[in-house]
Amino acid sequence: MTTPSLTKTDDRPLRTQDGDDAPLLVVDGLSTTFASPKGPIRAVEDVSLELRRGHTIGIVGESGSGKSVLSRSIMGLVPSYATRTGSVRYEGTELLDAGPKELRKIWGAQMSMVFQDPMTALNPVQKIGAQITESIREHLDYSKTQRRDTAIALLRSVGIPEPERRLKQYPHELSGGMRQRVVIAIALACGPHLLFADEPTTALDVTVQAQILDLLETQQAERNMAVILVTHDLGVVATRADEIAVMYGGRIVEQAPTQVLFRQMRHPYTEALLRSIPRLDLPSHTRLEAISGRPPDLLHPPQGCRFAARCPYAQPKCHAEEPELVDDGTGHLFRCWYPVGIASEQTTVDSVVAEAHVREVGDEIATDTDVIEEEA
Ligand SMILES: Nc1ncnc2c1ncn2[C@@H]1O[C@H](COP(=O)(O)OP(=O)(O)OP(=O)(O)O)[C@@H](O)[C@H]1O
Ligand code: SF4
Ligand SMILES: [Mg+2]
Repeated sequence: MTTPSLTKTDDRPLRTQDGDDAPLLVVDGLSTTFASPKGPIRAVEDVSLELRRGHTIGIVGESGSGKSVLSRSIMGLVPSYATRTGSVRYEGTELLDAGPKELRKIWGAQMSMVFQDPMTALNPVQKIGAQITESIREHLDYSKTQRRDTAIALLRSVGIPEPERRLKQYPHELSGGMRQRVVIAIALACGPHLLFADEPTTALDVTVQAQILDLLETQQAERNMAVILVTHDLGVVATRADEIAVMYGGRIVEQAPTQVLFRQMRHPYTEALLRSIPRLDLPSHTRLEAISGRPPDLLHPPQGCRFAARCPYAQPKCHAEEPELVDDGTGHLFRCWYPVGIASEQTTVDSVVAEAHVREVGDEIATDTDVIEEEA
């Protein structure tokens, strides 16, 4: 273990230049706290990130780490008993000050979300066609025929066969993969510039998962969208995100461009996440390491490092003082007193990326059409 020379992130200037390269989204020190009878729940604390059009940031962490609350806090989709502080600027507009009317104009048309569970995202008693055209009607001045044509084109673009017939169907008449494609079509209906994909494939089998992620990637490239891809699986973002932010207990504990993070991860929690995904260089019967212990109680967060109770490298200082998020000078941020360095294990890291790739290439053997026909 090494202790690098560190720079406080508070001193980092925000990149706010104008022009094509200006960030679409700038989140600065965002915190979200829920009021509860037992006290405040600090679900997200002091998160900062930037995102440009066409780029993808992967938000990774275990259940309860604050990934969904972060996404919803950026969009403004939080309940009235939640308090947000900090700043969320979208194309230069401060969203934390925006009223419901302003936000409704932005949702769907500027930013939209693909939710984890398509069954809850869709209205079970409304036909697919009505659910797609509803968003179009709200944001675009289209005739009824134009709305129907757009809905058909959207369903076709997300790989749904016989879109005319699907418009008249209810969600329960479609397979899980087809429903998720419909949810994506709805999210894309008004051409958003920023798409949140919150665990968009968790409920699906591996083959369909890869297809849905490929579909999102294709749509992103065609539309030059920025994507926030939320997942608990480091393997999913390894090949799909430009940058990764690892969350633990409501805070970002490590953040770096994807290649940098995989080449030299510094936070013990990220290292533990890496060990919990399958690798090609180990025999197939090798047991994966689960991360033992429980995430921190957000009602009573520990005084020191939030990962200390589960960290194999914890020292007395870790239990006493919380480390700040620091920059090692290369834009690689981490929050740890005694960061790990696994640059020498490059082959191991490469094998993780290779594993993700092989999984996807293998999945392509069953062609999209085959699976669509089977699912349909
Ligand atoms: N509406 C709410 N009211 C109170 N607490 C909440 C609310 N929504 C989330 N929380 C709490 O905030 C924390 C973070 O939740 P969040 O849903 O963001 O986790 P997550 O990382 O998305 O987990 P998962 O992988 O299970 O989706 C959790 O402890 C959760 O209990
Ligand atoms: S600060 Fe200490 S306990 Fe926390 S992750 Fe680093 S080594 Fe582990
Ligand atoms: Mg979630």
